[in-house]
Amino acid sequence: MTWRATVLTLFPEMFPGPLGISLAGRALAAGLWGLEARDIRDSATDRHRSVDDTPAGGGPGMVLRADVLAAAIDAVDGADRPRLVMSPRGRPLTQARVAELAAGPGPLIVCGRFEGIDQRVIDARGLEEVSIGDYVLSGGEIAAMALIDACVRLLPGVMGRLESSTEESFSAGLLEYPQYTRPQIFEDRPIPEVLTSGDHAKVAAWRQAEAEALTRARRPDLWALRPAQITGPKSESRKTPKNKTDG
Ligand code: ADE
Repeated sequence: MTWRATVLTLFPEMFPGPLGISLAGRALAAGLWGLEARDIRDSATDRHRSVDDTPAGGGPGMVLRADVLAAAIDAVDGADRPRLVMSPRGRPLTQARVAELAAGPGPLIVCGRFEGIDQRVIDARGLEEVSIGDYVLSGGEIAAMALIDACVRLLPGVMGRLESSTEESFSAGLLEYPQYTRPQIFEDRPIPEVLTSGDHAKVAAWRQAEAEALTRARRPDLWALRPAQITGPKSESRKTPKNKTDG
């Protein structure tokens, strides 16, 4: 079965949007994955087709109704599929979770709008809340696109062997080393000499060192989690200042 994302949204016209272009778009056109954007409003039952109401207990904004959203979820086939809801209070999305989702049948993704979603539908349908970062978007659609894009590029046949090297690097827990191309000198800045030396072992060592330095400086959280085999205990004691503890 082809990997497929089903998106429940109040704005189905936002899709495929950027997912219809470039790598994901070519793969979509080639049938390597499927995308289905469904309008939550189609599951409304009253004459006004209302999907939201005022929050119980008061407060600003509107809340997505449990009954309407549950009906929309229940109309989607595939009981074995992961059911996600994009939300800034979700567990942060990781490359590891992306890889799991890409390996499965493809998720059902609920996109929130308004002030939120009635908690009872999250509980009753076992929705996994997923965040793409500690900032607030105006709705879950762009977050869903980010998640889908990250999954699609891992699907068999979507990406060439070239691009997958970046993948391995991030999966190894390090940020990517810097890249250069022509011209040889740009505004008085030459390409680092080692990269034009033709010494492949030296190039590899330089890139590894750059990736490690970047990760330590920018992402101490990732650095602390890196697998032990990437840097031995030797390089750790050499590089870690005495006054700092390495979690
Ligand atoms: N919806 C609004 N903000 C979001 C975020 N940061 N991640 C996922 N979904 C969201």
